[in-house]
Amino acid sequence: MKRIPEPFRIKMVEPIRMTTFEDRQKALIEAGYNPFSLKSEDVYIDLLTDSGTGAMSDRQWAGLMMGDESYAGSRNFFNVDKKVKELFGYEYTIPTHQGRGAEQVLFPCLIERVKGDKPAFISNYHFDTTAAHVELNGAKAINTLTPEALDTTSYYDWKGNFDLEALVKTIEQHGAENIAGVIITVTCNSSGGQPISMANIKATSEIAHKHDIPVVIDSARFCENAWFIKRREAGYENKTIKEIIGEMYSYGDMLTMSAKKDPMVNIGGLLCIRKDKKLFQSCQIRCVPMEGFVTYGGLAGRDMEALAVGLEEGTDEEFLNYRIGQVEYLGERLRKGGVPIQYPTGGHAVFVDAKLMLPHIPGHQFPAHTLANELYLESGVRGVEIGSLLLGRDPETGAQKPSPLELLRLTIPRRVYTNDHMDYIADALTSVAQRSEQIKGLKFEYEPPVLRHFTARLKPVSH
Ligand code: F0G
Repeated sequence: MKRIPEPFRIKMVEPIRMTTFEDRQKALIEAGYNPFSLKSEDVYIDLLTDSGTGAMSDRQWAGLMMGDESYAGSRNFFNVDKKVKELFGYEYTIPTHQGRGAEQVLFPCLIERVKGDKPAFISNYHFDTTAAHVELNGAKAINTLTPEALDTTSYYDWKGNFDLEALVKTIEQHGAENIAGVIITVTCNSSGGQPISMANIKATSEIAHKHDIPVVIDSARFCENAWFIKRREAGYENKTIKEIIGEMYSYGDMLTMSAKKDPMVNIGGLLCIRKDKKLFQSCQIRCVPMEGFVTYGGLAGRDMEALAVGLEEGTDEEFLNYRIGQVEYLGERLRKGGVPIQYPTGGHAVFVDAKLMLPHIPGHQFPAHTLANELYLESGVRGVEIGSLLLGRDPETGAQKPSPLELLRLTIPRRVYTNDHMDYIADALTSVAQRSEQIKGLKFEYEPPVLRHFTARLKPVSH
């Protein structure tokens, strides 16, 4: 496959340090066999997340110098607000410190409006913090993802789609009066950064609106989703990325955004509302004690300026060709090396199927987390488990919840690593694949009661 050269040149560099196998072994033992507990200095290439890890452009850095640090009514807020109107056509903007900040402000306001007494949200797939904010507010988070997403080996263009039948059924079963919102996650992070088609966004929105349910677009990777629509959906090949974004958001009523992804800022988020002034006012009221005054929401003026610039840069088609091409290139190299992945690759990461790669390791011995450790030992590359360890136990029975997928996510930060780094990662994981039969699973040494994957300590089962 052809490599697409970086559409930028490098003006400033940050040295990274290659370590020895012995260094990594020591670091991993100290970290309790949990890459989350590694010091970043012991990591050579960090693929833990694409969130807040991107490289800002010279224009964004220049924007930092233009920060207006007034407590209220900062010039930079109005620049963000203008960009939001231009891209999404939404009237009201509240900045937040990151995506989960927008979730904590919005969700209680939506739950308050529900007429029934069993509030729930339905999504193609709730991201972890999204589900956490739903549940913290006493509501239920229900996923109705297309079943094609669960078969990693077969090609499907839209593994982020809603299963529309399941959506209708869920609304009927729970009663529309209980559904606080339908959350469309673009792209769908949990199924592999997989896109949702325009037709599916439109149909989902029509179903929700028919039942008077508001549509929230979880927008961390909205530019990447628009790019996939342009490439794969008939009728969109000649539209601009911005035109596609405009149509996507015409089907929503509000958006929450982690701006740490597609808009390439190190910190920041947004909550925007199309036209519901009452909802906007109740969100403003919650914003002040939770995030900060309504025109800064936890951000410095300079952060908002970098965000205004990043919202524009994220939509650049040439950049997206390179960006998603780089992820695809890594995926293709891995497939050639015999590493099973969620296919096709999505927007921000390659998801390795550890269930297929390490079939002898059962879910309760955490095959994907084991694979993350092996990759680190082999190469100093840090990935992250999305599987049984993350999923945790059933709070009622205490039993490990069965995870439909055991994935190792290799998340590619934006504008940070070159294609040579991709080759290095692919070579390392290919050699791990060649000795996969000898790899042993893990068991707990310390298991925290909640959000255990962040701080758990483990050890190999053979010891
Ligand atoms: N929604 C989606 C789809 C996300 O991927 C994330 C974060 C959030 C909401 C929350 O945003 O982190 O800014 O508060 N995803 C990161 C990840 C953490 O690694 O995928 P946040």
